[in-house]
Amino acid sequence: MCKLYPYFTNDGSVGLFSPEADDIYHSTYGALSEAYEKFILPANIEYYFKQYKKINVLDICYGIGYNSKSFLNFYFDYEKNLTKKLYNEAIYTDNILGKFLNILNRKNKLYIAKIHTNNILPEIFIHAIDNDKNLFLLSPFIKTQNRFFVRDKLSFEHEKINKLRKVKVKSKYKIKKEVNIIILKKLIENFENIFEETELNEILSIKKYKRYFDRFICSLFQFYKFERGNNTLLSRLRTFLHNIYYRYISNSHKKALKCLKTKKINFKPEIDDARNVIKNSDMTYQIIFLDAFTPAKCPCLWSKEFFDELFKHLDDNGLVLTYSNSACVRNAFLQSGFHIAKIYNAELNKYYGTAAFKNKNIMINNNFLHELSEYDLGLIKTKAGIVYHDKNLSLNNEVILAAHKKETENSNLISSSKFIKMMKNFDT
Ligand SMILES: C[S@@+](CC[C@H](N)C(=O)[O-])C[C@H]1O[C@@H](n2cnc3c(N)ncnc32)[C@H](O)[C@@H]1O
Repeated sequence: MCKLYPYFTNDGSVGLFSPEADDIYHSTYGALSEAYEKFILPANIEYYFKQYKKINVLDICYGIGYNSKSFLNFYFDYEKNLTKKLYNEAIYTDNILGKFLNILNRKNKLYIAKIHTNNILPEIFIHAIDNDKNLFLLSPFIKTQNRFFVRDKLSFEHEKINKLRKVKVKSKYKIKKEVNIIILKKLIENFENIFEETELNEILSIKKYKRYFDRFICSLFQFYKFERGNNTLLSRLRTFLHNIYYRYISNSHKKALKCLKTKKINFKPEIDDARNVIKNSDMTYQIIFLDAFTPAKCPCLWSKEFFDELFKHLDDNGLVLTYSNSACVRNAFLQSGFHIAKIYNAELNKYYGTAAFKNKNIMINNNFLHELSEYDLGLIKTKAGIVYHDKNLSLNNEVILAAHKKETENSNLISSSKFIKMMKNFDT
C-alpha cells in the first residue's frame, strides 16, 4: 500500500516527504506559502487575464496540487474584485447600466454586475501532470490550511526538516473551499473508477492520516460515492436530506456551489511521465509551472531536450516558472532559446528561482523578474552550468546523472568553487 509521510509545514498547510527521493515535496517554510510566493505572485497572472480570452496553464509535477489550487484561488479573487469594481463603476458613472442598476436593490445590482463580469472573465484550462496517481487522487482531500495546528512529531527521521520547523511564519494565504470542491468534481469526471480505488479508500480510512484531511471534502466524496447513478427512493431521500443539510447548516457550501455554476474552468489531470505528455501535446500554454524534484534527483525534467519541448509549447508572451536557481537549469533554458530572469520578491527580500520566456518585454511590467547579475552569468559558464541531456526524452534519471557526472569530470571548465573564490577575492 502507498505510504504517506505528511506533516504540518510552518504555515499550517500539509507538506509531504518522499523517502525514495529523499526529498521534500514542499518547502517546510510553508507548502501553500511556497506555491504563492514562487509560482503565483511572479506569474503576473492579471496580465494574462486582461490580455487573453482563454488561458492555458501547464502544471508539471502537480503532486497534491498546491500550484493549481493557488492559481484557481487567484482566479476567484480576481472575479470577486472585478464584480465589485464593475458594480461600483456602474453605480457612480452615468451610463445606461449605471442608471439601470440604480433602480435595483443591492442583491440584484451585484447579480447584474456578476453577469457582466462573466463576459470579460477569461476561460481557464489547467493541464496538470504527475506520474503518481495516489497523490493526484488525494489532492482535494489534503488540508491546505489549519489555523490551530499543532506542530506534529515527524513520523520519519529528518534532521533538516526538524530544524527548519522551528521557523515561525505569518500565514497570509488561504484557499477557498470551492477550489477543492472543483478539483474533486473534476477528478470524479476524469477517473471513472475513483470510488473503487482501493489505495485511495484505504489511505482515507487510516486513523493516523485523518488529521491531514479535510473532513468536509471526505464527507462530500462519500456522498458522491453513494449517489452516483442511483435513482432509488432511498437515494432521493438522501439527496433531499443532503440538500436540507447544506441549505441550513453549511453556508460556505452554498456559496461554493454558486461559484461552481458560473466559472469557466477546465481541469485536465494526466497521470504520466511529464515528458510523454509534453511530447504528445499540441497545446500552447501561457503559464507553465515546473515543480519537479531537484535537478540532482530528477534530472529528466530539467534537461535541455525537455526545455526544447517547453519552448515549443510556450505562448510567445508566456512564462515558465521554477523554484530552481541552479546554474545548469539556467544554462539549459538559455541553450533552448529562452530568455531568463531571476525571481525576486522585494517586499520579502527573497530570491525564489528562475523564470524563462520568449519575449523579453514581459519583464517590463513584472516587478518580480530581475536580470541575472554578473555573478549569476559567470556561474553558468563554470562546471556547475553543465546541462543534463536526455536525447529522446526517454532515459531514466540514473543514466542521465551518470552521463552528466562523466561530462563534468572530463570538462575543462573552471569549477564553481574556484569561480566563487575568485569572485570573493575580486570583491575584497
Ligand atoms: C516537488 S514535488 C511537486 C509538488 C507539487 N507541485 C505539489 O503542489 O504538491 C515533485 C513531483 O514530481 C512528480 N514526478 C517525479 N517524476 C516525474 C515525471 N517524470 N513526470 C511527472 N511527474 C513526476 C512526483 O510524483 C512529485 O509529485
